[in-house]
Amino acid sequence: MPSFTFIAVTQAAQWNRYRPWFIDIDPHTWQTSPDAAREILEDHRDHIAGIVLPNALGVGSPHIDEWERLSQEWDLPIVIDSAAGFGSKYADSTPLGSRGSCEIFSFHSTKPFGIGEGGALVSLSRPLIETTHDFQNFGFNESKICYTLGLNGKMSEIAASIGRRQLEDFDSRLNDRGETFKIYREALSDAGMSFQPNAENSSHFCASICAETHEQKLNIRESLTAHRVQSRDYYNPPLHLHDYFRLNPTQAKVGTLKATEQVCSRIISLPIHDQMDPENRDRVISAVLKGLDS
Ligand SMILES: Cc1ncc(COP(=O)(O)O)c(C=O)c1O
Repeated sequence: MPSFTFIAVTQAAQWNRYRPWFIDIDPHTWQTSPDAAREILEDHRDHIAGIVLPNALGVGSPHIDEWERLSQEWDLPIVIDSAAGFGSKYADSTPLGSRGSCEIFSFHSTKPFGIGEGGALVSLSRPLIETTHDFQNFGFNESKICYTLGLNGKMSEIAASIGRRQLEDFDSRLNDRGETFKIYREALSDAGMSFQPNAENSSHFCASICAETHEQKLNIRESLTAHRVQSRDYYNPPLHLHDYFRLNPTQAKVGTLKATEQVCSRIISLPIHDQMDPENRDRVISAVLKGLDS
């Protein structure tokens, strides 16, 4: 798994008694690098239980075919963390949700399809769906007999009804967010900001850009704050630099993470929301451009 992601996947692996092995991302796509995985597999296959592959920032990984080939070649399951990617598409225009052993979406309120808390596991494997379904319902079978260990992971009725309502105009909200993304990209690419490949096909929980240097990033973020624009820098710090891993080196194995650290030092996540007022879009753009001039 990469270090360039959110802590939840790492913790899920650890609760299942696996030890994370952080590998690097591709510097151009900001997605987990299949080459980095291959390098480890060639020498350490016996120590690897599976692949955790995030679709970084909710953007469908352009390397997905290569990952699936790798998983077949090395006989390893791939759990795809598509947390922010409900509504996003892979580069071939297929929606996220049908690749790997399963894909998992988050419906947390920070996501375009936000229902409060909750999510969904999607898979082409019926046994996996059935086992997961029973697990999140106390390990009951259809006759309400507990046959395996489970817990209460059910979605609440209130969250589910918010989700059903959200589905009604979800496509038009996605188009609207896509418009804002296009406007940002047109205005900022010429100024030297780079964007993630295939981000145009994503659901845009935010719009992440990479400045050319760390200093530029700091100036841009300062300017955004001065213009009353809240920005973030997902996923900085990368996981291996959080105290839990930094101070407890036995908790994870850490590969060479040069691209991860470089992208983290330059990344800025700009706000996108539904029906964004053109004046607010302009304020974001002009704050970035002013930051570049300082
Ligand atoms: C990449 C990634 N994985 C997992 C999660 C956790 O999702 P949830 O908050 O629904 O548990 C998030 C949340 O932001 C995320 O960004």
